[in-house]
Amino acid sequence: MIGGRDFLDIDQIPTADLRAILERGGALKEDQINGSAQPLMAGRTLVMIFEKPSTRTRVSFQVGMQQLGGMVVVMSETDSQLGRGETVADTARVLSRYADIIMIRTDNHQKLLELSEYATVPVINGLTDSSHPCQIMADIMTFEEHKGSIAGRTVSWVGDGNNVSHSWIHAAAKFGFTLKLACPASLQPSDTILAAARAEGADIVIADTPEEAVAGTDLVITDTWVSMGDKDGDRRRQILLPFQVNDELMAAAGPDALFMHCLPAHRGDEVTDSVIDGPQSVIWDEAENRLHAQKGILAWCLE
Ligand code: CP
Ligand code: NVA
Repeated sequence: MIGGRDFLDIDQIPTADLRAILERGGALKEDQINGSAQPLMAGRTLVMIFEKPSTRTRVSFQVGMQQLGGMVVVMSETDSQLGRGETVADTARVLSRYADIIMIRTDNHQKLLELSEYATVPVINGLTDSSHPCQIMADIMTFEEHKGSIAGRTVSWVGDGNNVSHSWIHAAAKFGFTLKLACPASLQPSDTILAAARAEGADIVIADTPEEAVAGTDLVITDTWVSMGDKDGDRRRQILLPFQVNDELMAAAGPDALFMHCLPAHRGDEVTDSVIDGPQSVIWDEAENRLHAQKGILAWCLE
């Protein structure tokens, strides 16, 4: 990248910048609600590459750019030359001649890094097999709207130690909250990501049980048991059964804890209807804030 800044992972970005992104996203949210949005992205084009399905990421980035006066091109691996073997590096060079920002959702984190290496415009991580940083920026915005600063608070992750959990681990080091994770032994988050976050000062607890992870927490989070690209769905569902977020687990968390899920949810698996539709759930605010937090990210990338 030559001009602007990449948004690749939360652990790569200084806390002050992450805070500035959230502040900007919050201000742009107010502008949108007040009808005073400025065409910040006028004349700018975002190209989005999807190698995996998406509802929220696709629509929130597209609507966000349009609300800011910008344009969007969406391409998928299958309907572009990427699917016929054109390299990520060559794609990056070409798209950089058309676009001001490139977002990619990919099955392989290395492709994100390669895109970033060869693109001359900012690159945004729209989810990889390893992380999902845009989601966690929206989640922290949502938490702080409901509960105030996340610094010094406790966040609990229950379920698969997957890409979304990795971005929460990155965030624990940057935003100064305690993160407690309860995951099955065979589905723990990456040791490397955990060790790096701890080396940065993150307070991370690997709990033995979901109940232990949620005791005294401010936020309970879970995600699908079978992520896009996972091929062992039956095995995962079996292993993860004791990690369902249900009324009993929310009772162990206490009445003041929020519940979040990045969605899409598999109701009856990782979370019951009673929890996801219950009074502690803030999932619709969370989904909406993808739009606002990502406007902050887009603006930061081009600064
Ligand atoms: N949470 C999220 O990224 O949703 P999509 O897969 O629909 O984009
Ligand atoms: N962990 C999920 C997140 C979806 C937004 C997946 O990667 O499929």
